[in-house]
Amino acid sequence: MSATLVPDLISEAQTTEEQFLRHIFVRDQMAEWSKSPLVMARADGVFYWDVTGKRYLDALSGIYVVSVGHNNRRILDALRRQLERLCFSPPMHGTNPVAVQLANLLAELAPGDLSTVKFQCGGAEVTEAAIKLARQYHRLTGHPGKYKVISRYLSWHGSTLGALSASGLKSRKTVNEPLAPGFVHVFPPTCYRCPFGKEYPRCDMTCATLIGQVIEMEDPDTVAALMVEPIGHTGGIIDPPPEYLPLLRDICDRYNILLIFDEIITGIGRTGQLFAAETFGVTPDVLCTAKGLSGGYAPLSAMICTKSIADVFWGPIATNPGFVEGHTFEGNPLSCAVGIEVLREILERDLCSNARRQGEVLRAGFERLAKKYGVIGDIRGKGLLQGIEFVRNPATKEPFPTETAFGVRVGRRALANGLLCRFDPHWVAFGPPLIVTTEQLEEMLAVLDRSLGETLDELSS
Ligand SMILES: Cc1ncc(COP(=O)(O)O)c(C=O)c1O
Repeated sequence: MSATLVPDLISEAQTTEEQFLRHIFVRDQMAEWSKSPLVMARADGVFYWDVTGKRYLDALSGIYVVSVGHNNRRILDALRRQLERLCFSPPMHGTNPVAVQLANLLAELAPGDLSTVKFQCGGAEVTEAAIKLARQYHRLTGHPGKYKVISRYLSWHGSTLGALSASGLKSRKTVNEPLAPGFVHVFPPTCYRCPFGKEYPRCDMTCATLIGQVIEMEDPDTVAALMVEPIGHTGGIIDPPPEYLPLLRDICDRYNILLIFDEIITGIGRTGQLFAAETFGVTPDVLCTAKGLSGGYAPLSAMICTKSIADVFWGPIATNPGFVEGHTFEGNPLSCAVGIEVLREILERDLCSNARRQGEVLRAGFERLAKKYGVIGDIRGKGLLQGIEFVRNPATKEPFPTETAFGVRVGRRALANGLLCRFDPHWVAFGPPLIVTTEQLEEMLAVLDRSLGETLDELSS
């Protein structure tokens, strides 16, 4: 081919044809996915349309990203203004005004003393940055032997090797082993199926107190950080009892270990406050957030640490290299301009209140489905991050056989019926945009209702 000849693009309609999909990897298993490929063409508010023109209710904000809805004019205008001004600033030599403005805005809004920000593009980049920050912090404060990271089974902190090593999902880890050394895993607070066979509240919070014992066994002088999602997502919306995160805070303080909250999903209003740290009343040393921060209008993530940690990196150059971490697209002006406008939109429209209000509507809807079908054992989550666990028998908590993949069947039916939600063999979750109305949420619940009924009919026939 001549170097100057650009091949014609295939048409939008052709993008569902297998011969053209042979040139792209998506997140799903390609051979299976390409039998009925979902290729989205446009979106508005809480709706998507695929390239065939079919409409979908977005009960998942894409993947917990589209916080202020699709096609939000205010965000598009801010992006357009920034496009005309500065699209990229040299990251090795400095930053740009919107990055500094957004950092200051986040410093105002984040709880407690969380006030210094490192911007990146995705979640994994900031969970990894938090791990590196913890190790470098201990090194600079005279504890170079503190390097281990404790995190939880069933967790997800991202797909890069460090974040993956911290994650606790065997389905995504085993195929990539060996992973990085220095990561220790503990059980999460899955109260509905307590790994210690106990029942809340008569459980002495073993899942939390055991972390202290694990630290003792590992040697506290080797442990740098404890990283948790305030509400675990991939394990099926693991919503801890109120005592859990305060206990983790105490343990970290006792052993000089940094508490890192992965708020990639839970941040930016999703649980009914700007950060889940506020929902649970616990301030971490480092808070990572992403997804909803840009609402999907540009890639953006942020790692926010306390002033006392940031100050450690502020010493004279002869003895202090600063925070050694960086990526080419960090603090991108387009992303930061979007981040500022998304936060304004959330605050000015008080979308955190809407998340709390609609969260109650969602909970009531899930409870109705539990009564109607008798196959929902537990409803978990807060605000607009809630899920349901399917069981064959709610009285005994007997799950559906794994090979039935009940939740996947429901989720796929929902998709066929025009509803996007998160699904897994044993659970389904909703995380709609924070702008969702009661009417729209009821429409989403009605499609889930129909999909659940059809799945049970299919299994009984
Ligand atoms: C809790 C949590 N942390 C981290 C990540 C990684 O984010 P990203 O995929 O943007 O790297 C995700 C992604 O889904 C997540 O849900």
